[in-house]
Amino acid sequence: MGDRLRPRSPAQGAGRFVGAAAIVCAAALAGCGDGGPRDTAGPTGPADAPATRAGAAASASPSPESSGAAPALAGPVGAGQADLDPPGFDQTSIAPQDKPRPARTPDVVYVPTPQPVVDAMLEMAEVGPDDVLYDLGSGDGRIPITAAKRWGTRGVGVEIHPLRIREASLAAHRAGVADRVTFIEADLFEIDLSSATVITLYLLPDLNLRLRPRLLRLAPGTRIVTHNYHMGDWVPQRQQVIGDSVIYYWTVPERIPPHLR
Ligand SMILES: C[S@@+](CC[C@H](N)C(=O)[O-])C[C@H]1O[C@@H](n2cnc3c(N)ncnc32)[C@H](O)[C@@H]1O
Repeated sequence: MGDRLRPRSPAQGAGRFVGAAAIVCAAALAGCGDGGPRDTAGPTGPADAPATRAGAAASASPSPESSGAAPALAGPVGAGQADLDPPGFDQTSIAPQDKPRPARTPDVVYVPTPQPVVDAMLEMAEVGPDDVLYDLGSGDGRIPITAAKRWGTRGVGVEIHPLRIREASLAAHRAGVADRVTFIEADLFEIDLSSATVITLYLLPDLNLRLRPRLLRLAPGTRIVTHNYHMGDWVPQRQQVIGDSVIYYWTVPERIPPHLR
């Protein structure tokens, strides 16, 4: 499993990181740890990130499919695999080749944003009932689900891993917001974002930069909030440290400045 796939900051303790990453990697990702370039490239956190992200690795729940057990995911909206299976079903009996796999290797592994950071991101974006929030790489769906539950926001989670989609859909039902939140199994780089008024990201610096040209073409005023990683020389309008995390905020400008074109 390579650090390349995991969101983190440069100052993060490598030992803790690798240990948690190995747990997630063990079965969460098809092709994970296949020795390709992604697995050997080093992490590239933002040079000016003022805080570490040790909490992400430390608090990352092993994915249900990685442990064979049935852990509840961290946070109020999480759901364990056992919640999805019939009573008495032994999920450890499922052969690895029979578990749902993403259509391609995800660009970053699943690490949930801690709930206080989710809350702060949504407060920073000042989400409301008229917004349409897209979380790109939505994991267990906690960001759009929290926005729908607390602020009545409509949300779309875009996620490449089918198990995350299952968990998120179930969590949305449990939270009573299934009518306001949709989860789409898709590649975040291929999805139409034109209806978004708010975009949330917890990816990696280079993925943010790959997305940046598309984000800059969205309607002026569209708000973008990221967990931990910024957008290169697109200077954030706000930022906030929460524990071991940093969140950043931009709005799409009326005119794209020359240096961002
Ligand atoms: C670090 S997790 C963030 C989860 C969630 N947004 C949160 O903050 O709690 C990144 C998620 O992106 C998903 N992902 C990775 N590459 C993707 C891609 N190309 N398209 C859609 N989802 C992707 C992973 O499966 C993972 O669930």
